[in-house]
Amino acid sequence: MEIKRDYDLTGLNTLAVVAKAKFFVVLEKASDIVELFSRSEFKGNKRFFLGGGSNVLFLNDFDGIVVQNKLKGIDIISEDDVSVRVKMMGGEDWHEAVLFCVNKNYWGIENLSLVPGSVGAAPIQNIGAYGTELKDTLESVEVYDVESGEKRILALSECKFGYRDSIFKNSAKGKCLISAINLKLSKIPKPNISYKILKDYLEKNNISSPSLKEISDAVCQIRRSKLPDPKVIPNAGSFFKNLLVDSAVIGSLKEKYPDMPTFKDDSGVTKISTAWLIEQCGWKGKREGRVGMHERQALVLVNYGGATGEEIIAFAKKIIASVEEKFKLAIVPEVNIIE
Ligand code: EPU
Repeated sequence: MEIKRDYDLTGLNTLAVVAKAKFFVVLEKASDIVELFSRSEFKGNKRFFLGGGSNVLFLNDFDGIVVQNKLKGIDIISEDDVSVRVKMMGGEDWHEAVLFCVNKNYWGIENLSLVPGSVGAAPIQNIGAYGTELKDTLESVEVYDVESGEKRILALSECKFGYRDSIFKNSAKGKCLISAINLKLSKIPKPNISYKILKDYLEKNNISSPSLKEISDAVCQIRRSKLPDPKVIPNAGSFFKNLLVDSAVIGSLKEKYPDMPTFKDDSGVTKISTAWLIEQCGWKGKREGRVGMHERQALVLVNYGGATGEEIIAFAKKIIASVEEKFKLAIVPEVNIIE
């Protein structure tokens, strides 16, 4: 295991922001974790665990150690006639892991096809798309405590999952390395096609009882049609979260803006579409210098080339201010902003 100095992170974050890490290391095998925790570069510095780099904004060079998890492996732990438990190591690519399950006919994460990033990053923001969240199939998360080096298994309830939220964004932030996740998937078909855009797509393509692969393919098609490929135009997916609001606020906004899209999630909470709010403020497709909001998805902030973290955050602050001015609503970034 080699700890590198002054390492260029530009190719390791999908927003392609130019930033360097004082120290950088890749974990490739379990013994690397033990070794890392004993190293002075790790013990004496601030740390950041990097996955696929698809949800991160480096504001400056990182004055500490960046650890990239590349621990690989997908294993079936147990199974019966109806379900299967799958352990996925944190360094696996999320979409590849979804395809593994789709090809084996294991139901539960197909709506999360093509979500960028790594398996180890998935629980941090409880990735979600097209009516499914990671928490719906997750049983536990395996972590190492960075202070004691001890391995712990956090059960679903301990992870405190919410919309784009978990313990890993709050009290456990920076305190543990996520080494693996354990999912319980179904061998019996369990299609979740209630999300309107997915349902409409399947209907339009005359797919009435979709197979697992057809759902995964449909999700990929929808995503490709509106979300820019970071390899072509650097971006971090949704830059902002949708807004969770109480019913009184929704009621008065709906009176003023009857077309405002709102969604109820499975816990009964209503979300306002932040993309719509941003679009109403005239930011969809708008570019300022090297930064802009994408023309097909107003939640996706893009770097047209060479933008710094400071430029991106300055642009994002303008959007926050204009949504605040027009709607009196405070939208919040979804990306992890690293100072
Ligand atoms: N909409 C607009 N303008 C736009 C885009 C969308 O008004 O430019 C409105 C439309 O009414 C549309 C609705 O928003 O029907 C929902 O749009 P979409 O299905 O694209 O979903 P989203 O709410 O904008 C969220 C997630 C995405 C996820 C999709 C699909 C967040 C922050 N984002 O976006 O996740 O793929 O739902 O489930 O929750 C990501 O996290 O990086 C991400 C892409």
